Amino acid sequence: ETQAPLFGKNVLVSAGPTYELLDPVRFIGNFSSGKMGIEIAKSALEMGANVTLVCGPSNISTSGYDLQRINVISALEMQKSMEDNYENADIVIMSAAVADYRPATKAEQKIKKNDENMTIELVKNPDILKGLGEKKTHQILAGFALETNNAMEYAQGKLEKKNLDLIVMNTLQDEEAGFQKDTNKITILPKEGDPISFQAKNKSEVAKDILTFILEKHIL
Ligand code: C5P
Repeated sequence: ETQAPLFGKNVLVSAGPTYELLDPVRFIGNFSSGKMGIEIAKSALEMGANVTLVCGPSNISTSGYDLQRINVISALEMQKSMEDNYENADIVIMSAAVADYRPATKAEQKIKKNDENMTIELVKNPDILKGLGEKKTHQILAGFALETNNAMEYAQGKLEKKNLDLIVMNTLQDEEAGFQKDTNKITILPKEGDPISFQAKNKSEVAKDILTFILEKHIL
């Protein structure tokens, strides 16, 4: 029991960026490395869980880890994989940096340049996490919030709007936090109770803090 506190539990984690294709060779994306979500997946595995990792484009390998990794490219693909695995999940942690918009159309062939400027029309992507929150039954649902200002207020708003059990907040004002970094500095805002702030740590230790928090605050 103390060796494997998540034994028998199904943990579903998303990680990485999404790439929204313009044509076969170009995309709109972001600098997420996938590191935070992948560390959560590895920690959950270490704690005895069955782990499904839905991962956007990331160079980080999980070979040698006994988890189910589903690689996806776009937000729409990520949404489908998250929804397909949602019912079976006990704990769901959405740490992917999902693109909020995608090009309205994807060209079949590489787009040719000409002498004019070019305008790209973008359409809104679905909010995957919000959709999961609306369908929540037995799951413990966690999201991330990367904020630059008014961090607590915005994070609290997302916690409520997306029907989450907790949200993990980090701010770009912290040196140790953010994309491509090995460390992170977080505050966890639970649905009920006071926020808890943690020191800056390696992302692997941050992952353990998040999972331990879930274990201690929720009866699984
Ligand atoms: O609203 P905001 O994008 O800041 O919320 C961040 C949280 O929502 C993260 O957990 C992120 O993975 C999730 N999200 C999502 N689908 C989107 C945008 C964000 O699931 N289209």
